[in-house]
Amino acid sequence: MERIESGILGLDKMIDGGFPLPSVILVGGEPGTGKSTFGMESLFYGAEKGEIGLYLSAVSEPPWVMQSFLSEFGFYNQKLVDIKKLVFVDLGEKLNSGGGVVLKEIQKNVELYSPKRIFIDPITAIQTMLESEMKYRKFLHELILYLKGQGCVTFITTEYSYRQVSTSMDAFMSDSVIMLSYLELENSRKKYLEVLKMRGTNHLTGKRSLVIDNSGMRVQPEFR
Ligand SMILES: Nc1ncnc2c1ncn2[C@@H]1O[C@H](COP(=O)(O)OP(=O)(O)OP(=O)(O)O)[C@@H](O)[C@H]1O
Ligand SMILES: [Mg+2]
Repeated sequence: MERIESGILGLDKMIDGGFPLPSVILVGGEPGTGKSTFGMESLFYGAEKGEIGLYLSAVSEPPWVMQSFLSEFGFYNQKLVDIKKLVFVDLGEKLNSGGGVVLKEIQKNVELYSPKRIFIDPITAIQTMLESEMKYRKFLHELILYLKGQGCVTFITTEYSYRQVSTSMDAFMSDSVIMLSYLELENSRKKYLEVLKMRGTNHLTGKRSLVIDNSGMRVQPEFR
């Protein structure tokens, strides 16, 4: 199976060397656990190596706001954005127009840029717009089917707690599920990463300590 390196320090050795290609990876976690940082660091890593990364934003803020947060990180490289190795697209306006329109907008951009890594952040905004569980399931099914045909890795973030992930259909439908979380320990909060599922991969299980600093993220070999 072909794989691509994640670009997240410490992660590849937990997952047999990298993400299977193609695959759809659900990145779940509560607010502030590091979901957006995870996807963006991987996209910049790929772009540094000449790949094209496509960031599809479903948050209600313009791309420059996200870029200004990201510019604090060492992995952020404005030049890659300027030469469109890393493309920021705002799905915002389409989010009131139904699943079909959003899907078409995603397809249009994928065809325009032929990205190797795609990042949809967060899917929760699309889920809220679609209102019914059935519409969301149909949307997700079509989206995943389409993305798997593109020979790329797609990250999809979702605002989840551990309680929700075990019954969620998006976790069932994705090839992989990575959970980010935090725990309060002695008056401080520690962040964690856990690979819950990765199809075709003999991955390590259990929570690993996750450190975020100005250089980006790294996964530590232990829980501590
Ligand atoms: N330069 C930095 N140094 C250390 N920690 C940082 C830095 N920048 C961000 N963080 C940490 O990362 C967290 C934000 O991560 P991120 O925005 O990726 O989370 P998220 O899961 O996408 O959140 P949301 O659900 O709100 O979108 C911050 O709450 C902070 O704890
Ligand atoms: Mg985020």
